[in-house]
Amino acid sequence: MHGLVHFLLFCTITASSSLGYVIPYSHNRELASRQTADSKLVFAHFIVGITGNRASAADYDDDMKRAKAIGFDAFALNIGNDKPEVQLGFAYDSAAANGMKAFISFDCSFFKPGDEAAIGALIAQFASKPAQLKVAGGKTFVSSFIGDGLNVNAIRAASGGDIFFVPNFHPGQSDFTPLDGAFNFQGWPSNGLNKAPSGGKLVTVDDGDKQFQSLLAGKSYMAPVSPWFSTHFGGEVPFSKNWVFPSELLIYQRWLEILALKPNFAEIVTWNDYGESHYIGPLASKHTDDGASKWANDMPHNGWSDLSKPFIAAYKAGESTPDKFIDEEKIVYWYRITPKGIDCDSTDTTFGPGNNATGDFFNGRPNGFDTLSDNVFVVSLLKAPGTVTVNSGGTLYTFDAPAGASAFSAPFKVGAQAFALNRDGKEVMAATSLKSIQDTCPCGIYNFNAYVGTVPEGPRDTLQPGDALANLKTGLKVACDAVPSLPATPPPTAAPTATSTVTAAPTLPPI
Ligand SMILES: *[C@@H]1O[C@H](CO)[C@@H](O)[C@H](O)[C@H]1NC(C)=O
Repeated sequence: MHGLVHFLLFCTITASSSLGYVIPYSHNRELASRQTADSKLVFAHFIVGITGNRASAADYDDDMKRAKAIGFDAFALNIGNDKPEVQLGFAYDSAAANGMKAFISFDCSFFKPGDEAAIGALIAQFASKPAQLKVAGGKTFVSSFIGDGLNVNAIRAASGGDIFFVPNFHPGQSDFTPLDGAFNFQGWPSNGLNKAPSGGKLVTVDDGDKQFQSLLAGKSYMAPVSPWFSTHFGGEVPFSKNWVFPSELLIYQRWLEILALKPNFAEIVTWNDYGESHYIGPLASKHTDDGASKWANDMPHNGWSDLSKPFIAAYKAGESTPDKFIDEEKIVYWYRITPKGIDCDSTDTTFGPGNNATGDFFNGRPNGFDTLSDNVFVVSLLKAPGTVTVNSGGTLYTFDAPAGASAFSAPFKVGAQAFALNRDGKEVMAATSLKSIQDTCPCGIYNFNAYVGTVPEGPRDTLQPGDALANLKTGLKVACDAVPSLPATPPPTAAPTATSTVTAAPTLPPI
């Protein structure tokens, strides 16, 4: 039946074209959806495991609309084996209603070798949904998080269809021969062993690109882009883990790398993983609280979506800079809200016993904290040159920003953080962050998530009352209200007592 429909459509288009008629819009769309594997497509990794409280497809509409507006083509729906069919159904239906695509990304901390039949059955169940991403002439796009050791041919057989399989298998751990492509999830500089660089061991994200691409030998490479990594779960949850990767200006530098690399696909890690602090989607996105609200509350990241938008457009256009896609001038800034040396040991949640089966659990300051710098990070997206100023707790920094995208960082001081753009001695725009840098422990813990703001300011974004804040207090040792608490108006800024000029940050990560 499907084959017949396509055959007839093909004949119609050919006939129309040969007569010089304009191909009807619906036919153009059909052709456009037959993506080749070489299409530059951008995906956002979406954790379905925390959206089990969604009651209908409409609950996915806001995410779909926002992601589409930023330039994303599809959501990579990360699922566990906890009966994901209902939420997948909602997400696929919402994607179809909002002009987005979707595909399943099997989270193989749950799916194991031996589960190939179950994986294939899930692929088959959603492959014919209108929103399913198809590439390379109609193949069903499928991905994963980890999954080395799965039998790829058994998955293909069990899916009953033609799949384009781009899992997060790892060089040295899997044979890449039966794959159509591979996804590298490691979007942060590391020591090669899933922790921050240490003892002279540094594996950059770019090192990962090279390793994957060499093994793929021309097959599709799906490259990661991530803004941050900080996770701080203690013994209050069964999956205790507590570490950071140094990220700093990573999202800016990584997007520039992507523009140079031109991979087949890019995936933002992630849209909504609040637990590891690398979400670029809104806090208000409906979800349940796995305990991440302790560090996600009052920490919006939407500025990273704003930053990504011109880069995504440039990637699709094959451009090496985002400059001509900057439609709206913006300053995007971020920082941790405490100095890294703050001492929260007496009230932190990661002392005491915790499950360390993964080796990811550490007491106190997150493992890797010493690789971080106490800086404010700033990216300016400008149509014309200007002077960007930062008043960080009374130190005034000035930066001569060129037109286009550029970045700088500067050591922060505790207190209010204010940002402005000036031209010809006049202020063009300015805003003071609603979140100051503090020398007290937020809710008693080491919170190494980032606060992200913009000038001009975006709409207020908060965790929604109820489910999204349900576990904020769990395990805390100090009183802390489980409610959004950013003030209605910004705090007063200190009159600058020192001034210094800063220079542009390198376009590649310095470490
Ligand atoms: C957890 O395991 C890792 C790796 O073996 C180890 O380095 C770390 O110290 C352990 N954490 C705790 C709290 O014992």
